[in-house]
Amino acid sequence: MEPRPPTIRPRRLRRTPALRDLVRETRLTPTDLVAPLFVKEGIAEPQPVASMPGVAQHTVDSVRVEAKHLRAVGVTSWLLFGVPATKDPEGNEAANPDGIVAQTLRTLRDDHGDEVVLVADTCLDEYTDHGHCGPLRADGSVDNDAAVAAYARAAVTQAEAGADLVAPSGMMDGQVAAIRAALDSAGHAERVGIMAYCTKYASAFYGPFRDAAECAPQFGDRAGYQLDPGNADEGVREALADVAEGADLLLVKPAMAYLDMVWRVKQATGLPLAAYQVSGEYAMLHAAAQYGWLDGDRAMAESLLGIRRAGADLIITYAAAWFARRLQQG
Ligand code: PBG
Repeated sequence: MEPRPPTIRPRRLRRTPALRDLVRETRLTPTDLVAPLFVKEGIAEPQPVASMPGVAQHTVDSVRVEAKHLRAVGVTSWLLFGVPATKDPEGNEAANPDGIVAQTLRTLRDDHGDEVVLVADTCLDEYTDHGHCGPLRADGSVDNDAAVAAYARAAVTQAEAGADLVAPSGMMDGQVAAIRAALDSAGHAERVGIMAYCTKYASAFYGPFRDAAECAPQFGDRAGYQLDPGNADEGVREALADVAEGADLLLVKPAMAYLDMVWRVKQATGLPLAAYQVSGEYAMLHAAAQYGWLDGDRAMAESLLGIRRAGADLIITYAAAWFARRLQQG
């Protein structure tokens, strides 16, 4: 390589904060962020989640308050997870029109109209007593087609309760096509979209979420349905398959250990892409900060910026409210 000519001095543009602001390529705004919200049936007060500082399992009343805070700082997209009072092997509660998520969707839609985007997680692991993402066969494996049929029923319930987007997160084959067909035949072809978890890995970083959603598998793991962490080409194939099945938005998860997949899925599809900064990513930054081992605020902000720079159009993050407030304060 030729030596760099002495006239080229990139540091000239790094000299002051104002210059750095001027040439910064990647920025985040509150509307790039989606806040996950947990609602639990049968509790009287919100319950903090120990492994996720600042995150709680909400009642319908307390989630309304949280939603007002989020809206006040400009975070207007919310992803709802429900924890039902009763679980069974089939996860039937997921499709209950009076279930906790359906109630919450109706309430938040009443409170906020179309000023907000309501996304509903469409999966069964919060609803099954064994914690897997679908009903089981006799050998303990998840029955793909039974799971998909149940997701389709849950999605219609969520659409009817006011969801703008349903977000199937179970990694079952054919889930997007089946949900699209069910939504269309229930009259939601024009109004309700699918945010497809197309590229979701079998990850250790979901640990704290499983406390929050009370959905840890009671035996085995999710490696029989979620992607193997070593597979990148397969992650792209899954994304392309979901596009062909009618996905409106795609999602890569986790984010930080899979930024190559954020980039590759975006390049391969061109669809709006979400990346999920998952519970373990959030928890480890908080934990290290609590030990005084890194500057938690800066590390969190840098992590979110990196996800956006890798190609995510939006980021699902438990830090959404905190980050938006920080932006407001300048
Ligand atoms: C499953 C689901 C999971 C998460 C979102 N949806 C857990 C899992 O696959 O075990 C994890 C999110 C997080 O860790 O923040 N329906």
